[in-house]
Amino acid sequence: MAQRSLCCQQKKKAMVVFGTRPEAIKMCPLIQELSRYSELDTVVCVSGQHRELLDQILDFFQVVPNYDLEIMKDRQSLNDITSAILLKIKPILEQEKPDIVLVHGDTPTAFAGALAAFYARIPVGHVEAGLRTYDMDSPFPEEFNRTAVGLLASYHFAPTEWARDNLLREGKPKDSVWVTGNTVIDAMKTTISPDYTDENLQWAKGSRLVLLTAHRRENLGEKHEEIFRAIRRVVDELPDVKVLFPVHPNPAVRDRLKVLQDSPRIRMIEPLDVRKFHNYLAHAYLVLTDSGGIQEEASGMGKPTLVLRDVTERPEGLWAGTLRLAGTQEDTVHQTFHLLMTNPGEYEKMSLLSKNPYGDGNACQRIAQVLLERL
Ligand code: UD1
Ligand code: UDP
Repeated sequence: MAQRSLCCQQKKKAMVVFGTRPEAIKMCPLIQELSRYSELDTVVCVSGQHRELLDQILDFFQVVPNYDLEIMKDRQSLNDITSAILLKIKPILEQEKPDIVLVHGDTPTAFAGALAAFYARIPVGHVEAGLRTYDMDSPFPEEFNRTAVGLLASYHFAPTEWARDNLLREGKPKDSVWVTGNTVIDAMKTTISPDYTDENLQWAKGSRLVLLTAHRRENLGEKHEEIFRAIRRVVDELPDVKVLFPVHPNPAVRDRLKVLQDSPRIRMIEPLDVRKFHNYLAHAYLVLTDSGGIQEEASGMGKPTLVLRDVTERPEGLWAGTLRLAGTQEDTVHQTFHLLMTNPGEYEKMSLLSKNPYGDGNACQRIAQVLLERL
């Protein structure tokens, strides 16, 4: 017993805090990597900002959290999320006394987790650091959250050189920023199989499959309706197009789906587990999304993707040619989507990718090495 506690005292402890689907997809591979090192104890604390979406991912990666703050409420406000996490995580930080708290990206879970660690004088490591649009309204509130986490963090794990340069321009010390690649590319190594098929893919066989997702807070309501009207028009115009739309559980998204109903070539389905989703991406002809992470995944596969937003914090895919901004207005979305589906030259321009701009699949290893050397 005495020997065990002596050994544990020498170990360093990393607490990983996350709560939404995309954070889980990008942090579970890191948890798996950190767990390989005997020099590190890894404690997992989920906020439960998402419930079903989070549990789906935890199950897939077989990650069992040590703590679950269980904060999700129906139609939760940003105040609900932030205040609940700040209050509930405090005693856990006091009990665990980690040497570092690792958060991811841009959610209120990341912001509140980092703020609580900062108040407890625990260093913060920011995974997927340095993404910026420099527009606080878009995406809202993510641009604030990631910028604020950047202020609180002393370890910045930037996925790309562009993200690193943003951080250096903001004055972060050079030796606190590492370019690691995005951990989502690591996750994709475990999910995609060339021979994958299922009933939805069988349904789409012989047609051009368009994979759609939509959930951004600043697009909720009227903007989503405009986007959905544009998509419906293209589907009605082009008989070889089928749309699969895994619908986010947010009731504010589900309130606006009427225009997509009653088409035999549009399927609205429950959120997919990540293995299914990645394999659907691999089979898709085109991706339509206002998501952040899907931009990385789709461009990583060289899959033409129309981003249903006016700006992106992931310009590398624009530069590589696989991403194009389609905005949120019905006519613009219709025009861009229709063009891609009817002009092979335009489509070809977007489907040529020689190198994945978001990473090489070894991001988790790089982050672990930094922690082992620096903690
Ligand atoms: C959140 C993040 C967003 C991220 C997205 C990924 C914030 C402010 N937004 O947005 O950055 O892109 O997750 O999906 O952090 N709900 C469920 N079950 C779930 C998840 C959500 O019922 O598993 C419903 C609840 O009613 C909840 C609502 O969706 O109140 C909104 O969830 P919330 O986490 O606040 O926002 P998202 O739009 O999911
Ligand atoms: N995703 C999933 N099932 C779905 C839709 C998306 O597993 O039905 C995954 C997708 O592969 C990506 C992540 O969810 O890794 C993106 O999450 P989301 O779009 O919700 O959030 P964002 O990236 O915009 O923050």
